[in-house]
Amino acid sequence: MNITLAFDVYGTLIDTQGITSSLEKYAGPQAAEFARLWREKQLEYSFRRGLMQNYVSFDICTSHALAFASSALKIPLQQSDKDSLMYQYKVLPAFADVKNGLAKAKQAGFRLFAFSNGRANDVEALLNHAGISDYFIDVVSVDEMKSYKPNPGVYSHFLRRSAATCSEAWLVSGNPFDVIGAVSSGMRAAWVKRSPETIFDPWGIAPTLTVNNLAGIAEQISRAGTAA
Ligand code: 2OP
Repeated sequence: MNITLAFDVYGTLIDTQGITSSLEKYAGPQAAEFARLWREKQLEYSFRRGLMQNYVSFDICTSHALAFASSALKIPLQQSDKDSLMYQYKVLPAFADVKNGLAKAKQAGFRLFAFSNGRANDVEALLNHAGISDYFIDVVSVDEMKSYKPNPGVYSHFLRRSAATCSEAWLVSGNPFDVIGAVSSGMRAAWVKRSPETIFDPWGIAPTLTVNNLAGIAEQISRAGTAA
């Protein structure tokens, strides 16, 4: 079987907490809290935009979430500070285990795609900056559907775009809501649980596989595929 892997981007390949060092200048000791709130609001805005069918692209959700976090934490930012932070968001770092994990998955013959809420050109820039774009056949963005994960339509869109069937396609994601969305849409999904503290939503919908990082993802998916 020709296995297709849909790698989520923000929070799976790319470390959204990597913005913390850029926030220190403005938020000091609250930088990590600022980064977490920014990310939480960014996702909340994408969920709400999806439900309201009032789509704006992910970079707009990100910029609205930045303004919210700045107000909520009473850390005022000039427009030039916001522009600078939005630029830093476009060059966030990859997690340390990513390159090795992607190299092994590609070598094992898997078909690799990036699959993200982010606009294709933003995702391409991030992957290029992190030096990992060559591992992927293509970037599939929800922007092509004008909706957001976990709308089942975006997972179907991924299958169409990658020319894969449900039984051949795995989502690989560090975001539990994304894993639940993919499994509910009939795909298999590996949850990347990098921190022992991360909690999976108790909805009675389990990941097909849980991994600690991407280093052994190819081997673990091969094994799970054989067992299925
Ligand atoms: C992504 O789609 C969910 O933000 C995550 O890249």
